Amino acid sequence: MMLKDIFMSLSQNQFLNSTAKKYGLKMGAQSVVAGTNIEEAIKSIKDLNANGISCTVDNLGEFVFKEEEAAAAREQILKVIEAIHSNNADAHISLKPTQLGLDIDYSLCLNNVREIVDKANQYNMFVNIDMEDFKHLQPTLDLLDDLSLEYDNVGTVIQAYFHNAMDYLEKYKNYRIRLVKGAYKEPAEIAYQDKKDIDANYIKLIEWHLLNGKFTSIATHDHRIINHVKEFVKRNNIPNDKFEFQMLYGFRKELQLKLAKEGYNFCTYVPFGNDWYGYFMRRLAERPQNLNLVAKQVFNK
Ligand code: FDA
Repeated sequence: MMLKDIFMSLSQNQFLNSTAKKYGLKMGAQSVVAGTNIEEAIKSIKDLNANGISCTVDNLGEFVFKEEEAAAAREQILKVIEAIHSNNADAHISLKPTQLGLDIDYSLCLNNVREIVDKANQYNMFVNIDMEDFKHLQPTLDLLDDLSLEYDNVGTVIQAYFHNAMDYLEKYKNYRIRLVKGAYKEPAEIAYQDKKDIDANYIKLIEWHLLNGKFTSIATHDHRIINHVKEFVKRNNIPNDKFEFQMLYGFRKELQLKLAKEGYNFCTYVPFGNDWYGYFMRRLAERPQNLNLVAKQVFNK
């Protein structure tokens, strides 16, 4: 618990975040971040595609409080969409609203995301709006509501640690939804704190959405949950084209390949870019064993 809190607060440190940008991928981040530029990311995506794995691409970026930075992020994501298309890669986009200006102004953010969704729509490409902390939850759902008046290539994430996650899921059942346990530190009044409770709610949401929803992305590295899903879909005759498994780039690579080989749709979340620090610290907070990644880097020098 202590380590989790330390890494979580490190992830929110703006000074370390901006310092890290200057030095390229360090501390083992290179094994979980697919490069610092689009070319490197496309190469990683094509390698995964060659193994029957599709990708969702995240242009890393945090702490955006200036309009120009949000515009630069938008332009970069538009370039990623072009690169996916021109390289004929099997990939779509994941984006974070705060990187596109949600902390500056809602309409500014909506316009940035709309441009991205519009461009992706021209190539029949899906855009997932990642879910950040509770403070941004309602405005993120507002973005989805506003965008779906014009587009159907957009969906979002529901976090199982929230007590009322099922209410959100019921409301958004006709969307392509990624289900996760939840990565941020949230207060006990609104979110389960105990792993057992989070897992139980997660399974409840997955089962419900598999039976009632449009398309379910089950994003977890937890083999127990994955095995449970495999049995559940078999028992309920849920076809493989109704769901996919997702994991983060660089984690449990053998399991990723195994699931793809077994014929399940599998999608790897591919983060890339200079702004890797906060993302990497959150991965260490989730699972301090990920410190192995750091240790390997230090001792392999
Ligand atoms: P968890 O960390 O609970 O681990 C459960 C068990 O699985 C462990 O005890 C261990 O046995 C096994 N395990 C886990 N990792 C392992 C590893 N690397 N090697 C070996 N065994 C391992 N969150 C969010 O708030 N908003 C979002 O938009 C997203 N998006 C997202 C996309 C994708 C593709 C993924 C995979 C995750 C997210 N998340 C997220 C993060 C998510 O909420 C959650 O914090 C992490 O996935 C960690 O929880 P897990 O379910 O993976 O397993």
